[in-house]
Amino acid sequence: MILKIVKYPEPVLSQPGEPVTEFNDELRQLVADLFETVYAAQGIGLAAPQVGISKRVTVIDLSLGKNPKEKLVLVNPEVISSEGKLYEEEGCLSFPEIREKVVRAAQVRIRAQDEYGKWFEMDGEDLLSRAFQHEIDHLDGILFIFRMSPLKRNLNLRKIRKMQSEGTW
Ligand code: NI
Repeated sequence: MILKIVKYPEPVLSQPGEPVTEFNDELRQLVADLFETVYAAQGIGLAAPQVGISKRVTVIDLSLGKNPKEKLVLVNPEVISSEGKLYEEEGCLSFPEIREKVVRAAQVRIRAQDEYGKWFEMDGEDLLSRAFQHEIDHLDGILFIFRMSPLKRNLNLRKIRKMQSEGTW
């Protein structure tokens, strides 16, 4: 089922998600719905708070649904080490039309559970590293607009307010 993606400043986006403790069919349905929703929106990652569900669950697929091997499910994920720096443009499905450069670690190692509760570790670099950090930030209630410089953040917040007043946000 395609779920509705909520936009900034929906409060759920700024709340830390609840850790997942039950690995049941309901969780697996949420994961399936997150994939269906992110593919429909042509994004590479989507976190449960973005569909109004305050849980530590996110999906990533850099292939946009073209390669099943690239489907990643991260439940209760955390970054366990990071290295280097990247400064690249990012977008977010909760901020349509906003794209901005943000600083991220170039490489990260993460630890997470899959939709059955099994723990695993995985390394990511470049785009995958950024996707890991962006999505895990969502689970901590941190939005990419708060990773921007104060100047860029204010410019984008002004752009959003303008779109809100025009009814296009
Ligand atoms: Ni996002």
